[in-house]
Amino acid sequence: MPALLNADDYRRGARRVLPRGLFEYIDRGTEDELALQRLRSSLDAVTLTPSVLTGHRERALAIRLFDRDLAAPLVIAPTALAGIVAHDGETKLARAAEAVGIPFCVSTQSITTIETIRAGAPDAMLWFQLYVWHDRALTDRLLDRVAAAGCDCLVLTADTAVAPNREYNRRNGFSVPFEPSVRAVVDGLLHPRWLAGVFGRTWWNGGVPTYGHYPDTYRSSVTRPAMADAVRLDGSIDWNDLARLRDRWTGRLIVKGILSVEDALKVAAIGADGIVVSAHGGRNLDCLPSPADCLPAIAQACAGRIAVLADSGVRRGTDVLKYLALGAEAVQVGRLPLWGLAAGGEAGAVAILRLLLREMDTAMGLLGLREPRELTGRAGGQTPAGHGPRP
Ligand code: FNR
Ligand code: LAC
Repeated sequence: MPALLNADDYRRGARRVLPRGLFEYIDRGTEDELALQRLRSSLDAVTLTPSVLTGHRERALAIRLFDRDLAAPLVIAPTALAGIVAHDGETKLARAAEAVGIPFCVSTQSITTIETIRAGAPDAMLWFQLYVWHDRALTDRLLDRVAAAGCDCLVLTADTAVAPNREYNRRNGFSVPFEPSVRAVVDGLLHPRWLAGVFGRTWWNGGVPTYGHYPDTYRSSVTRPAMADAVRLDGSIDWNDLARLRDRWTGRLIVKGILSVEDALKVAAIGADGIVVSAHGGRNLDCLPSPADCLPAIAQACAGRIAVLADSGVRRGTDVLKYLALGAEAVQVGRLPLWGLAAGGEAGAVAILRLLLREMDTAMGLLGLREPRELTGRAGGQTPAGHGPRP
């Protein structure tokens, strides 16, 4: 196997292993993929100014976030279906996160349940991402399970009021629960390592892979065409629901998918603990602004009030440093760990995270910095045409 030297090498490895439908579900954006391109161009446009002759022999990436020590300002973002990228993929991601000392955020739409993940990674820092279901009583029961599993932090995703328009999924016949089509079956057969290792293994243990947190009555069989209404995502949630969630959930509460100062301040006023400035990896609305462009104003408005995290489009250690320099306290990565997981299982996920950490450390060294907080004020460069100069 050729050396895997950067995230794109892992991405190519993932493409070889995964059925096309699954690879594209992870990799691609939405509609014309403009948001995805904008993520790249907005991060590329950022420069970081070094200080020379600072004489630091060593760098420390560690930070403290929500009363926890993190080895680096990184979090594995919630990604649905990691458990069909590799067998028990979410547990593998939890262990990989633990191996490098960062939290892993489990998705409501994970394949593996929170209890199984916790059993497989007893000491991992687990966060949980919430999609509110139509049936609020069921949602409450899910929250009880999440609390019982010792999750540090609840992340309410606020940017997915309706299902986004991802045409490639339809073309590929990709869906969960799996719906058999000639295209999807041929796709599986062409990727025997995945077929045997993930689909076959789950099948052998008694079923097709599906959402682990759905109550048994809704856990679909192969032939079930659509999700039951009760566990459909509820697009009608509003600020009152967030306030209720704040009352109910005693742990840390973060809202993910914030892109305006106004919304960030509403989150702070409700008493939540943080936000993730996010364009959902360019997967939802194709005309969203880039987090890199929104972050400085949001971080400034939220300073000293709530924690500001960012995600979307990170492919290099320098991308993480750019988000930190623009005002984020920590940065989430979604696709990267999935590519590592696909290409090399748990070890692959650990390897790509270590690669990212090495890239961050090298860039910190070249910037003459010792710790992440020194990145403040170093972002410069011109945003893409029409956006004007950075503040
Ligand atoms: C996601 N994302 C996501 N977000 C969320 O709140 N709940 C979810 O279930 C999912 N599912 C999901 C699946 C896959 C395959 C991907 C790639 C992403 C979005 C995710 O949390 C994060 O915002 C982006 O992935 C960040 O962008 P990068 O790092 O993937 O570029
Ligand atoms: C996604 C949804 C699950 O990005 O958030 O695929």
